[in-house]
Amino acid sequence: MAQRTLIIVKPDGVQRGLVGEILGRFERRGLKLIGLKLMAVDRSLAETHYAVHKEKPFFADLIEFITAAPVVCAVVEGPEAIAVVRMLVGATKFTEAAPGSIRGDFALDLTMNLIHASDAPDTAEKEVELFFQPDELLDYTRDGDRWVTSG
Ligand code: PPS
Repeated sequence: MAQRTLIIVKPDGVQRGLVGEILGRFERRGLKLIGLKLMAVDRSLAETHYAVHKEKPFFADLIEFITAAPVVCAVVEGPEAIAVVRMLVGATKFTEAAPGSIRGDFALDLTMNLIHASDAPDTAEKEVELFFQPDELLDYTRDGDRWVTSG
C-alpha cells in the first residue's frame, strides 16, 4: 500500500554535510520525494513534535538539539514507505543500529542520531501535517516508477 512518511535530517546531519547522502538513500531505494525544505524548528514546533516524550529524562536535551540549527524535512511516498524508511534509518540506539543503515553507518550518539522518521501511519499523517502545508506537497508522476513497483 502506498504510504507517505516524514523524514527530518536533524541538525547534526545538516552540519556534517550528510543531507545528500541521507536523502540519496531514500531516492535510490525508489521512494518518491513529494515535499522538501530546509527550515529552523522553533521551540513550539519541537515541543509539539516530541510531545509524546515530554516526561522522558532526555526531553530537554532533545528540544535543545533539534532547535539548535537548521534541519531538512522531507516527505517521501512509496509502498509501505513507513516501514521501509525505518529500516533504512536503523535503530534509535547507535549500538543497535545495523551496519548499512543510516545510523549504523554514521551515528555514535543517542541524541545526535542524524534523522527522525515517523513510526506508524497515524503519526506519519500528523507529522506530515505539522511540518508541511498542503500546497507544499506535490502530486506528480515519475516516468521510471513503472520499473520500480508493479502497482
Ligand atoms: S524511547 O525511549 O523508546 O521513547 O525512544 P524512541 O521512541 O525510540 O525515541 C525517542 C526519541 O528521542 C531521541 N533521544 C533519545 N532516545 C533515547 N535516549 C536518549 N538519551 C535520547 N536522547 C534523544 C531519539 O533519538 C528519538 O528521536 P526521534 O527523532 O524520534 O528518532
